[in-house]
Amino acid sequence: MRTPMIAGNWKLHKTLGEATALVAELIPAIAGNNHVEVVVAPVYTALHKVAEAISGSNIKLAAQNCYAEAQGAFTGEVSAPLLKDVGCQYVIIGHSERRQLFGETDESVNRKVHAVAEAGLGTILCIGETLEERENDSMLDVLRRQVRFALRNLSTEQMAHVVIAYEPVWAIGDAGIPATSDYADARQAEIIATAEDVLGRRVPCLYGGSVNPENCQELIQCPHIDGLFIGRSAWKVEGYLDILTRCAAVI
Ligand code: PGA
Repeated sequence: MRTPMIAGNWKLHKTLGEATALVAELIPAIAGNNHVEVVVAPVYTALHKVAEAISGSNIKLAAQNCYAEAQGAFTGEVSAPLLKDVGCQYVIIGHSERRQLFGETDESVNRKVHAVAEAGLGTILCIGETLEERENDSMLDVLRRQVRFALRNLSTEQMAHVVIAYEPVWAIGDAGIPATSDYADARQAEIIATAEDVLGRRVPCLYGGSVNPENCQELIQCPHIDGLFIGRSAWKVEGYLDILTRCAAVI
């Protein structure tokens, strides 16, 4: 089993000063920790400074999105090779906020997953069903479709760098209700089986959506939960450290 990943998605938050201050506190606090793979995902503008600040530490860097083309006349976009150049190891692709607010489709997600793989970076592929899809019992079809589409035509070598983050849309953010560990684990098992069918290998699958210090231990101990993907609770160093410490105690 690979080391569980605990990723903090900072979304559209943090100035350069705030971003570097967070990692400056995090680095000494987790030095020597090898129980979990710690990943932070700042905004684009903070990536370079955070990359410098975490250099030589055991923290990894993720971008929150990228464009599907490497370069060209695409004003305002940022490509996967540029994210590699700045020091990222991972790119988050297909977060539900991107699907809901910025028109990401299964097809654009697939193109981006290819672009990330092509650049030699790891993908954190976000998938998840909406409340409506859960209530009309189509979530399994939706999750399977999202996985199959996103991973289409990846080579065996490219597949090795994909991590899935299962985030039920109804569990994310201030209005979100965290999934019970039983619900999350059952969905994760289905997602893992689908990904295995496509890729021929066991893909790590994180859970995300209202993860907090109170529910993190129960979630991380589920057999099909290989790590956690955290929004709000990772925005303050105390909250993130609390989760890292609690998880390390039960892994
Ligand atoms: P949350 O966000 O932990 O604040 O619910 C999770 C996410 O959107 O990735």
